[in-house]
Formats: sequence, structure tokens, C-alpha cells
Amino acid sequence: MSRSSYFHQLAVLLLYARLASCVSVSIPVAAPSSAPTIASDYISFSIEQDRWTDWVGTTSRNQFFFNTLDNLNALTGAPPQIRIGANSEDHTDFNPNIQFSQAVFPPPTTTVPYPEATSIVVGNGYYQAAQFLPANTHVIWGVNLGQNNITAAFLEAKSIVKAFASSAIRNAGITLDAIEIGNEPDLYKNNGLRSSSYTSTQYVQEWTNFAANVSAAAGISSSSHTKFWGASFAGSSHSTTGFSPQAIFKEGILNSNAGSFISTISEHRYSGSFCSGSGGLLQDLMTKSTIRSNLTQFTPDITATLNNGLDYVLGETNSYSCHGAPGVSNTAGAALWTLDYLLFATQIGISRIFFHEGIGFKYNLIQPITLTRSILDGSTLSTPLPPHIQPQYYAAIIAAEAIGSTGNSRAVELSINNSRISGYAFFENNKLVRAVLIDSQAFFTTTTTPRGVTHVDLSITGSGAPTTMTIKRLAIPHAGDTSGLTWGGQTYETSDARVSGTLQVDTANVSDGVDIHDTEAILLTFSD
Ligand SMILES: *[C@@H]1O[C@H](CO)[C@@H](O)[C@H](O)[C@H]1NC(C)=O
Ligand SMILES: *[C@@H]1O[C@H](CO)[C@@H](O)[C@H](O)[C@H]1NC(C)=O
Ligand SMILES: *[C@@H]1O[C@H](CO)[C@@H](O)[C@H](O)[C@H]1NC(C)=O
Ligand SMILES: *[C@@H]1O[C@H](CO)[C@@H](O)[C@H](O)[C@H]1NC(C)=O
Ligand SMILES: *[C@@H]1O[C@H](CO)[C@@H](O)[C@H](O)[C@H]1NC(C)=O
Repeated sequence: MSRSSYFHQLAVLLLYARLASCVSVSIPVAAPSSAPTIASDYISFSIEQDRWTDWVGTTSRNQFFFNTLDNLNALTGAPPQIRIGANSEDHTDFNPNIQFSQAVFPPPTTTVPYPEATSIVVGNGYYQAAQFLPANTHVIWGVNLGQNNITAAFLEAKSIVKAFASSAIRNAGITLDAIEIGNEPDLYKNNGLRSSSYTSTQYVQEWTNFAANVSAAAGISSSSHTKFWGASFAGSSHSTTGFSPQAIFKEGILNSNAGSFISTISEHRYSGSFCSGSGGLLQDLMTKSTIRSNLTQFTPDITATLNNGLDYVLGETNSYSCHGAPGVSNTAGAALWTLDYLLFATQIGISRIFFHEGIGFKYNLIQPITLTRSILDGSTLSTPLPPHIQPQYYAAIIAAEAIGSTGNSRAVELSINNSRISGYAFFENNKLVRAVLIDSQAFFTTTTTPRGVTHVDLSITGSGAPTTMTIKRLAIPHAGDTSGLTWGGQTYETSDARVSGTLQVDTANVSDGVDIHDTEAILLTFSD
């Protein structure tokens, strides 16, 4: 055989192997006892607080933002929880003479087109704007620990409580679940907010001191609805030395009167920090094994937290810090990362996941106002970009549909012997109702081989096993696309963030299985 014909045959064989790949998935018909219950507001958001009123509105509601939250509310029966804080939380002062807020921003750069404010001063109207959130939203608000000025934390807490006691907020059923004191205190030693020798022991002392003051100011007690979120660390030592939940437990953060009002431990996670992007980096992000290892490293922290009877959340997370990697975090591939990441997190004791968002950040699910600068390089846009959703938003919608509206659905990850395909089954009243499959093999405009397809054989056995199903697809032309996705033939890329177009789903016999393509997610809904 000539060399070239040998390579030709090899190529055909490899192509065949790729096109004809097949995997079998066994799905239990009843929920395994290990299947965790998923909160209706499991998919939640963290908002950079310097531009909070751009998100929510000042004197009237930002209807676009409201609609993005309300879409999720309509699917699960609860709006996303909203944490307001993050980096600018530790640069916020209070002045009652300011109506909403005044912020000072550094100049934009190509790598950081929308920088956080270096200083922000807020007044009562800033907190009162929470009245424009969907009814029944649960809110967590951060106060300033970074500047070590207890007056700032005290005045902010007073104003927050005043807002949540107002009839506008109370009548809407919007509640303050918690106050967070300080953002990422483990980084204070690096960012100049404390000395380079700052330790978790010092943090516990400062936190306890602030919390005593803030709990008195905000009426936080053993009987109040409002509690504290603790930790909010950027990173973790995962051990009892350094910054970690287990370290601050050992150092007594829960032992003071105020410390006993901590309901929840929050930690933050980004999969890395990249200020420039590439196709390779997008495929890295979408890798099944590293999605799992990014999350399972928190298992000791989660175990320590749950052993203390507290809730554990990822209170701030997204793909890559630097507000996202351009051409990576803002793409359809990142939507598949989001879906697999948030669903996997349900499996290891994380009770809610808060995707971090800031105006113009690359990794946003939602861009709630008109932008005049490019999110990728800060250049002036020739035409302003109206409010819009980004590809990751579809992941939130798909997960919300999978979780459903019963308020007690449970999920398990399916064991799938394929390094690119993951799956989860969902149960209501113990009965299998839906499954999500994700194929995170990145298919790019530059991919020279045909798009791969894998046949998934479904084995559902046991009494009451469903025989038919509908198949709904997230259609993605290419992994690097930043728009043009459709979910069941419909789009959320509309001027008001409401879904548009005709729903298209296929009906099939479970025994026929389903084909999944590279860079695709599908939702199976089972019936008898
Ligand atoms: C402390 O906080 C208060 C209220 O935010 C502010 O008016 C004051 O200037 C701050 N003090 C310092 C030293 O920053
Ligand atoms: C909290 O701090 C403020 C500002 O320093 C102070 O006025 C107030 O008395 C403190 N409250 C308590 C309970 O210590
Ligand atoms: C997290 O994911 C990234 C890929 O996005 C990977 O490079 C990194 O090694 C992962 N980290 C851990 C701790 O698994
Ligand atoms: C998993 O797939 C690999 C090849 O893709 C195969 O060699 C192996 O036997 C499979 N393992 C199981 C448990 O089916
Ligand atoms: C399902 O199977 C039945 C019985 O074999 C067949 O009649 C029917 O056409 C199949 N439905 C689909 C959608 O393939």
C-alpha cells in the first residue's frame, strides 16, 4: 500500500470511529438514595455592587434584567437569589446625602474594559432599589470590612435594614437572607487592604468585632430571618491552616454570639485567570475531568461546613477571572461549561451557585444595559450594543427546565464512559422525569474534520420505566459563537430577553436512544 493511500484509509477509519462512536447509559427509574434535592433557586447571581443600580434600576425597574430573572422564576417557581457585593464591597462608603451612588472608576484598558470602581459612596436609595427585583427574591448584601472602618459597615447595615423594612420591599416578599462582612479577605494581604502578614486568625478577630456591631445594627439574632454569610474566600487551603472554612471554625468564628448567626459558608471559584483567549483555552474550560476537579477540591471545606450544620454555597463563581477570557468566556462553549459545572456542583453538597456578573464583564450571562465599549478589548463600538443575554444564559434556562417547578426535584450524575459526554437524571416524587446530556467536544469554525456524533443508548429498567421521550436540543453552530444559539428552536436573544420562536422538540422511543453532536446539550423528557 502506498503511503498516501495508507494515510487515506487510516483517516477514513478514524473518521468512521469518530462518527460511529456509541456509548451506553444506564438511568435509574427511581431516585437513588444519594440523589440530593435541588433548590428551586439553585441557580443564583452575584452582582458587582459598584454598578448595582444599572442592573436593577433607580426610580423605575430595569425591565430587561427583571425579565432575565423572571424567565428562571417561571421555570422553577423561584427567582434566582441575588448577592450584591464582591470587589467593590470593600471600597464602599455610606453618605445619607447621596441619593443612589457615586463611583470613581479607573480608565478602561484593553484587558479590563469595564474595571471595578476604586471608590463608591452610596445612600439610602441605593439599597432601596432592591424593590425592583422580582417578588420573593432572597438577597444577600455585602458590607465593607476591607477598609477596616466599622462606621462604614455600621451605616451600610443600617441602610440595608431600613430598605428591607420598607413597605415596597416587604409587600413584594423580597427578603434579606444574609449580610456578608468583607469580600475575599484572604486576598487582603495581597491587595494592600492589610499587611502582607495578615492571617485567618486576625480575620476571625476582625470579623467577630464587626459582626457584633452589624448584628446589633441590623437586628440579626437567633430568631431573625437575616443571618450572616461567612468566609467569602477567593481561595482555600482546604486544611486547618491558612484561609479555609475549617481553619476559621478551628479559630472559633462560630463561637461568639454574632458568630452563632452564621447560616452559610460562601467560597469563590474561578477555573483560572486568563486575560487573553484561544480555542485551546475554550476546550480546556469545557473539559469534563477538570470541571470535576475544580469543584471536588472543595470537598473537605464542604464536609467541615455541613458538619457544623451550615449551608455551603459558591457565592461567587464564573469561568476565568480577569472578568472572563475574551473569545472564551463569552461563547457558546462556555455555556456548556456552565451547564456541566452547575449541575456537577449539585452532586457534592453545594446548595446554591452564584454566577458573578458585572456591567460589561466578558463572562456575564446577562448584559443588562446598553454598552458603548467592546467587552473584549475596550474599543469604542461603532453602534451601541443594547441589553442582551450571552450564551451562558441558555445554560441557566436548561438547568431550570431540568430542575422543574416542584420544589423538590432530585438529581444524580449518570456514569458515562466518555471523556467528553456527561449526563444527569432528574426525579420528581422519586420518579425519573428528565435527563440532561452534554457533549463538550469543541467544534470550531476551524475544525477540519466533520462534526462528531455519538449515539447514546439508554437503558432504563425497573417497573414504571418510561418508553417514550421528547428530545430538546441546544443548537450551537460553533463553540466559539457568541450568539445565534437556539434552545428547542427558540431564542432568548431578543430585545426584552423573553423567549421567541416556535418550540421544536422531537419525540422518540427510549429504546432508540439519542444522537448527540459535538458541542451540544440535550434535554430528554420522559413519559410512559
Ligand atoms: C469611614 O466610613 C464613613 C462612612 O462610610 C466615611 O464617611 C468615613 O470617611 C470613613 N472614614 C475613613 C477614614 O475612611
Ligand atoms: C457600631 O459602630 C458605630 C460606629 O462606630 C457606633 O456608633 C455604634 O455605637 C456601634 N454599635 C455597637 C453596638 O457597638
Ligand atoms: C480548573 O480547570 C482548568 C481548565 O479550565 C484547569 O486548567 C485547571 O487545572 C483546573 N483546576 C483544578 C484544581 O482542577
Ligand atoms: C470505557 O471505554 C473504553 C474505550 O473508550 C473501553 O476500553 C473501556 O472498556 C470502557 N469501560 C467500561 C467500564 O465500559
Ligand atoms: C416507537 O415504537 C413503536 C413500536 O415499535 C413504533 O410503532 C413507533 O413508530 C415508534 N415511534 C417513534 C417516534 O419512533
